[in-house]
Amino acid sequence: MSGPGKDGDHRPPGGCRDCEKPCDESDGQPGLPVTPGLSRRRFVDWILGVSGAGFMAAVLYPVVRFLVPPTIAEAAVNSVVVPFRPADMPPNSGRTFKFGSQPGLLVRTASGELRAFSGRCTHLDCTVQYRDDLEHIWCACHNGHYDLNGVNISGPPPTPLPVYTVNERGDQIVVNRNV
Ligand code: FES
Repeated sequence: MSGPGKDGDHRPPGGCRDCEKPCDESDGQPGLPVTPGLSRRRFVDWILGVSGAGFMAAVLYPVVRFLVPPTIAEAAVNSVVVPFRPADMPPNSGRTFKFGSQPGLLVRTASGELRAFSGRCTHLDCTVQYRDDLEHIWCACHNGHYDLNGVNISGPPPTPLPVYTVNERGDQIVVNRNV
């Protein structure tokens, strides 16, 4: 039963529908229990707000995880077997290979010696290549030049290329980072 008499309950006999007094505890349906301080409408609004926020988080979280790269660094690679054989490297030639996640450059000098370098230009990280017409290493991005010791000899590269150790093991070429 509704109506006056209970503490704080001002509803008329007809319920909230007949009431003109401002009230934030009613949802306009007479006869239903009212929880002091939290109307059904507020409760439903709160549930909808929480559900909406949960839905948006469920949608956005995978998108953000996809767009933001993980902060875990790749494990450093110190040694690789290049994917070609010594016979694939004639004198005065060069080939790039993957050294972990970075490029490497393997060079067979005109005298037949194998040498390996980081393939990343020390200027702005472009991948360098071997120029058989110049018999040295060249970066196409800004015309940077390195000699066959990896030393920067012309153009914008500020420092030499890191040099790796090369070993031929039978039919394999093994390149090691110098540590
Ligand atoms: S990135 Fe190689 S010369 Fe600029």
